[in-house]
Amino acid sequence: MSSAKTDTIEVSGLTKVFNGKVRAVDTISFIVKGGEILGFLGPNGAGKTTTLNMLSTLLKPTSGTATVNGHDIVEESDAVRRSIGYVFQDPTLDIELTGRENLDFHGRLYNLNRNLRKQRIKEMLEIVQLTDRADNLVKTYSGGMKRRLEIARGLLHHPKVLFLDEPTLGLDPQTRHSIWEHIQRLNQEKKITIILTTHYTEEADHLCDRILIIDFGKIVALDTPDKLKAQLEGDVVSLTFKAPEMIPKVHPLFEKKKWIRRVHLLSVDDNQATTNRMMNMMHGMAAGSGMTGGINHGSTGRSRMPKHLEKMQPHGSINQNSFSNQALGSKRLNLLVDDGGHRIPSIVKLVDEAGVALESVELHKPTLDDVFISVTGRNIRDQRGSFMEMVRRHRIMRQARGRQTHG
Ligand SMILES: Nc1ncnc2c1ncn2[C@@H]1O[C@H](COP(=O)(O)OP(=O)(O)OP(=O)(O)O)[C@@H](O)[C@H]1O
Ligand SMILES: [Mg+2]
Repeated sequence: MSSAKTDTIEVSGLTKVFNGKVRAVDTISFIVKGGEILGFLGPNGAGKTTTLNMLSTLLKPTSGTATVNGHDIVEESDAVRRSIGYVFQDPTLDIELTGRENLDFHGRLYNLNRNLRKQRIKEMLEIVQLTDRADNLVKTYSGGMKRRLEIARGLLHHPKVLFLDEPTLGLDPQTRHSIWEHIQRLNQEKKITIILTTHYTEEADHLCDRILIIDFGKIVALDTPDKLKAQLEGDVVSLTFKAPEMIPKVHPLFEKKKWIRRVHLLSVDDNQATTNRMMNMMHGMAAGSGMTGGINHGSTGRSRMPKHLEKMQPHGSINQNSFSNQALGSKRLNLLVDDGGHRIPSIVKLVDEAGVALESVELHKPTLDDVFISVTGRNIRDQRGSFMEMVRRHRIMRQARGRQTHG
């Protein structure tokens, strides 16, 4: 394949196996339309960066094919590289140079002549609003400014496609919103196709035309944010308990109810999961009496999910192992129910009759967090990366936070 067909990306069966055993990316296929913002949403180690590295020709696939702007990523890697920009997950700026010098260096790498470099640098600095700080050393920049400079650098050679790997990792909410605005402006005004990776559901929801949820190297969902959420059909009632060890007593009771579509047990680490109404109305309820039911480690979330989402679940919902493994450190049960508002009294009664004390009840419309839980059986915020990945991530976040006094 030689000349560019369209401004799209086509991926077919793309796979990367490291050291003959780690299937980092496992037979993924998808298409990105020109002008689209596609988000890769997934937890640590899901395979996001590995996918971007293959699409940007930095890594050779173990199997499968892909074209970027009509160019094959293996056969025509030079053409692919010329047509893309890449903002890496790990910071790669030279902090001992000024912003302008960093951009100039990149322009030289892309063989832009002196005049063109000057013109493009001016243009890009204006786009990311760094003109005023262009001649300061990068080590004096805030985390958000550094990220914007990296985006400017990724755009210097006028790519049609921009890869952004965790564009806002470790940045504070205000700076994150400012980066989002820049990304949206680039997409709308410059018609740049953007693939970004994130493990922030709110980022994917806010920015992306479509979201590809990736877990253990596999695509487990791909659709617009609204459609993904609409597929859950119902409300989420989220329960926390005073004594998490009592959860196994109520869990099976919920499963027997027809109007409860699904039951998910979640980790307490999930303290920023929802943006929704808190109803701490159950405080102090139902201690002591009516202890029935017993512990049932074999309970599973009864599924009445849309067929295609069910098919995409590689790990199901709660199985015996995940339930018993998580039970000790978990204390939240999420129930996907029809007509949640009206069902809360019945839910509270059920828990009460089981003699279990509730701490809080929260009702919300399905969010992308709930979609992630539904298709993977886990919370996206449950970290499961290796020790070294966590150390690396921590370092990036600290660097990003280091000087982020201005967006
Ligand atoms: N060069 C490598 N050699 C061996 N294993 C690797 C290599 N690069 C990545 N992996 C493994 O591949 C898997 C996917 O890693 P990847 O970096 O693509 O995940 P990610 O979704 O980008 O995660 P994060 O959110 O932490 O950035 C992980 O298990 C990781 O340890
Ligand atoms: Mg990554």
